[in-house]
Amino acid sequence: MEKDKGIDHRTIDIYDRDDLYQISRVNPLLIRYLEKVQDKKALDIGCGNGINARYMLELGYDVLGVDINDSAIQMAQANGVHAQLIDVRDFTWSDNFDLITIFYSLQHLQTQEAIQVLNNAYIALNSNGLIIIGIFTDRENAITTNDIQLLIEQQTDCQILDEKCWERDDKNHGAPHFHKGFYCVCRKG
Ligand SMILES: C[S@@+](CC[C@H](N)C(=O)[O-])C[C@H]1O[C@@H](n2cnc3c(N)ncnc32)[C@H](O)[C@@H]1O
Repeated sequence: MEKDKGIDHRTIDIYDRDDLYQISRVNPLLIRYLEKVQDKKALDIGCGNGINARYMLELGYDVLGVDINDSAIQMAQANGVHAQLIDVRDFTWSDNFDLITIFYSLQHLQTQEAIQVLNNAYIALNSNGLIIIGIFTDRENAITTNDIQLLIEQQTDCQILDEKCWERDDKNHGAPHFHKGFYCVCRKG
């Protein structure tokens, strides 16, 4: 089966713009995998304006969005999302979740910080829970596909449902160039 079937690459385009908070599309991976989540407590790390958290909310999820950016939090709250101003670096979760999404925020962190965020998120994931991670891999000094795959290998109870390295050209912003990224969807237990 063609793995990226159904992925709308326009989402990637929108992520690449500077104006990050104008994102107006729900991540296609979320749409595709939400039905596989058995229970309904969710965490969206680096939620931005809350577009994805809002989608979960509308489908009956008890969802918390967190972001380091105050204006993002205000927009997420204006979108009806329960959102908190949190810097996830060095943050440990007191709750557990059935779904954790981390869409295109880890590339903002130092590699070790991003690894710690992923470890803490995995600890907070309930058994049978799903974690969906998307990263850009064309950023210097940021977490890589290998870093994430190594982390997954270290978890004996982690099952990969889907993963893909993607690459696409961008002819709309300056000289034609490529963007690269990676996503994975994993189940715990
Ligand atoms: C490219 S945006 C993606 C927004 C959203 N996940 C989406 O897909 O629409 C990255 C987000 O990560 C947030 N972020 C970056 N570093 C963070 C940190 N240390 N703690 C929490 N959020 C962070 C940014 O403020 C920004 O809202």
